[in-house]
Amino acid sequence: MSTERQVAKHYTHGSLQQAIFDALRAMGKDPERFSAMDLSTGDELHLGWVPATAALAKDLGLAPGMHVLDVGSGIGGPARFFAETHRCRVTGIDLTDEFVQVATELTRRCGLSDLVSFRQGSALDLPFSAGAFDAATLIHVGMNIADKARLFESVRRVLKPGALFGVYEIMHAGKGDLPYPMPWAQTRETSFVETPETYRHLLSAAGFTIESEENRREFVLDLARQMREKAEKHGMPPLNQQVLMGPAFRERLGNVMATLERGTIAPVQIIARAA
Ligand SMILES: C[S@@+](CC[C@H](N)C(=O)[O-])C[C@H]1O[C@@H](n2cnc3c(N)ncnc32)[C@H](O)[C@@H]1O
Repeated sequence: MSTERQVAKHYTHGSLQQAIFDALRAMGKDPERFSAMDLSTGDELHLGWVPATAALAKDLGLAPGMHVLDVGSGIGGPARFFAETHRCRVTGIDLTDEFVQVATELTRRCGLSDLVSFRQGSALDLPFSAGAFDAATLIHVGMNIADKARLFESVRRVLKPGALFGVYEIMHAGKGDLPYPMPWAQTRETSFVETPETYRHLLSAAGFTIESEENRREFVLDLARQMREKAEKHGMPPLNQQVLMGPAFRERLGNVMATLERGTIAPVQIIARAA
């Protein structure tokens, strides 16, 4: 099986939409109509969750009228945040068919379909014309992609000259092997975590200039502590990442948090400008 097929299989739940609607009902919401914020405890599939997405959007200067490409858009949390908060148009692309279908339906029920759309496809072969986008984002996706040189060339092609590319990824930050399973991969076979140096080098080779780089490890550890304290007091919110990942959630989250605590990995944000 190709890496892309294994990755899509890894993320496929089977009855995700129903599981999300059940969680919304448990929150006292009407699953026919809800707001993007109602989904925020479960639809941001990356460390740092909504605050990290908000910081990325701010650093990219997202503004009304911009057309943003979200590469590896998951179930659409970041795309809906960009559209709702910054009123920009967003196109998401993702390998996992079920995620694309769920992202589309959630967005329709949030009333954001006029600004946000999703399609199934590979980040390595983006089905868009050259210079189509004013900005692009890549949030916790590169860990599943071996050929980052091709990934960055592919994104560079569809950006307008001078447009910003916001990369927010889990990177290798210290010594030591990674334990598996991780949230993004069951084994090392589909895991391609790289150092910030490799990202910088490959982005430059693809025609980007690095504008800034920020290690978000402390920011994420702080948020995780706050979330743990809240969950101890009030219980887990009904819509959480366990709904998406199923029973494997605890082991995967335990591994990623332990490795983050040790400093072997870090969530790193890089803002790069297309030549
Ligand atoms: C950890 S999730 C992050 C989703 C989203 N960016 C977010 O932060 O909520 C990784 C996503 O990347 C997608 N993905 C992985 N490899 C991809 C590829 N080659 N092309 C497009 N999407 C890919 C997966 O299907 C999955 O939805």
